[in-house]
Amino acid sequence: TNIVVIGTSGNEVSVRAKPGQTIMEVIRDAGFDELLSLCGGCCSCATCHVYVDLEFADRLGEMTSDEDDLLDSSSKRDGRSRLSCQLPVTPELEGLRVTIAPED
Ligand code: FES
Repeated sequence: TNIVVIGTSGNEVSVRAKPGQTIMEVIRDAGFDELLSLCGGCCSCATCHVYVDLEFADRLGEMTSDEDDLLDSSSKRDGRSRLSCQLPVTPELEGLRVTIAPED
């Protein structure tokens, strides 16, 4: 699954994601160290915040209330916000463009 990651300085990198990975892991493997993901993917830190292009919104899994609450703690939340550690890679995400949210 090919995914385009856009860093906080606007740099774009196209990566090939493997099934079973989360988008958070894909972004880290692509060398973006600005995605802190401090809790390591346990949905408890909100430092893996990304913006997902709206055309892909309905191809992502439903947001849990934990994810929703954590995103609420960010002043940078908008309608495209998700926590990337909660997004598994699936074939439906081919061509996904995901932007790393600026730090709070
Ligand atoms: Fe901590 Fe996603 S890595 S919530």
